[in-house]
Amino acid sequence: MASVRFDPVGPLGGSLRPPSDKSISHRAAILAAMGEGETSIEGYLDSADTRATLAAIAAVGARVEGNGERLLIEGVGLRGAAPAAIDVGNAGTLMRLLPGWLAAQPGGEWTLDGDESIRRRPIDRIVEPLRLMGADVTARDQRLPPLTVRGSALHGIEYRLPVASAQVKSCLLLAGMLAEGETTVVEPAPTRDHTERMLASARADVSVEPAGTPVTLRGRLPGNRIRVRTAERLEPGRFAVPADFSSAAFSLAAAVLVPGSEVTVTGVGLNPTRIGFLGILNRMGAAIEVTEDAPAGGEPRGSILARHGPDLEAVRVGAGEVPLAIDELPLLGLLGCFADGDTRVSGAEELRYKESDRIATVVEGLRALGAEIEASDDGFSVKGTGHLRGGVLDARGDHRLAMMGAVAGLASEEGVEVRGFDAAGVSYPGFERDLRALADVA
Ligand code: S3P
Repeated sequence: MASVRFDPVGPLGGSLRPPSDKSISHRAAILAAMGEGETSIEGYLDSADTRATLAAIAAVGARVEGNGERLLIEGVGLRGAAPAAIDVGNAGTLMRLLPGWLAAQPGGEWTLDGDESIRRRPIDRIVEPLRLMGADVTARDQRLPPLTVRGSALHGIEYRLPVASAQVKSCLLLAGMLAEGETTVVEPAPTRDHTERMLASARADVSVEPAGTPVTLRGRLPGNRIRVRTAERLEPGRFAVPADFSSAAFSLAAAVLVPGSEVTVTGVGLNPTRIGFLGILNRMGAAIEVTEDAPAGGEPRGSILARHGPDLEAVRVGAGEVPLAIDELPLLGLLGCFADGDTRVSGAEELRYKESDRIATVVEGLRALGAEIEASDDGFSVKGTGHLRGGVLDARGDHRLAMMGAVAGLASEEGVEVRGFDAAGVSYPGFERDLRALADVA
């Protein structure tokens, strides 16, 4: 287990393009495998998680060509996946999306398993609705991987997601494309909509409408009602993947925290269902400027500049906002240490089911560095003291914890040693190099 030290630095500066978007890359590979003929993918993320997805689609018969970030994938068609044993590694998105497609192909049998962390993460959230559609799926103890899928004929349902999860929504939309009739998914709050956008660009029959009226007083947006109809074929043709906002968020947070810094991230996906963290930074008083690029492809993208904000204010984040910033909440714990007042996150029980129990690991990790932070059932509360001592943080096999620890080190008084830093490679293999380059430029 590699330990890496991150010591306090002077101002950060310069510009970088963070690695490509993990969510969109997983989807691009899966939809290309489901497609007819060849799909080209530009800017595919080359990381441990997304390599697992390429191996998975190859195992079911797709042909994957190309190196690095430019891929050509020859799909097997909507109903042509070959039986296989699939190792998803650490990739929760692969574990939850792929079964939707496989479950609807009569005659095939697949098993999906992964690493120790995947085996702790619940999949009953896909097993239950897939069974309602007629699927034959079996999970360990009804709720954990490994998952066995025996393909069968599915029928459409209307399903209200009990938790706001883009992974579950996407699983059901993929199944719905092969199911008889119409499949409707209703989300309790908006979640990332890459699947809907990508299905529409592949000419699937998908429609989206708000599932209620905005509760304007409390600023809450309704989720969507998303409907798909049976498809005969899928023709993705081409996907272009922007840089990952969730990866960019680490450099943005470092710039906000390290005095004198000014950092720009470029080519970053600005899909409104992904950038809730920018709204939160704004409320904290951080200096952020966004410049949108000319539209290209189905996802907005652009540059974000972040400057050190000397007087950060504490902030409250509740359930409606959580899905739009879910992967950035560990960073919010760190930022809260430097803000004036108590920063509180609630309605985020989902954090317990990520690559680690992120309520526990964020709270324990930051506390070991001197933070005054408390866990609750569905979030955490951190007292802003304006500084962080530093120390040792164990990444607990969680890529986002590893990278949060690195940023904490730069902003701390004594530096941070991140144990198990190599976990960062799950989504951002070059993170250490990129972060150190920002320190060298200024
Ligand atoms: C993802 C959705 C989110 C997110 C995860 C990736 C996706 O999970 O935390 O990192 O690609 O759909 P949930 O939708 O399950 O909350």
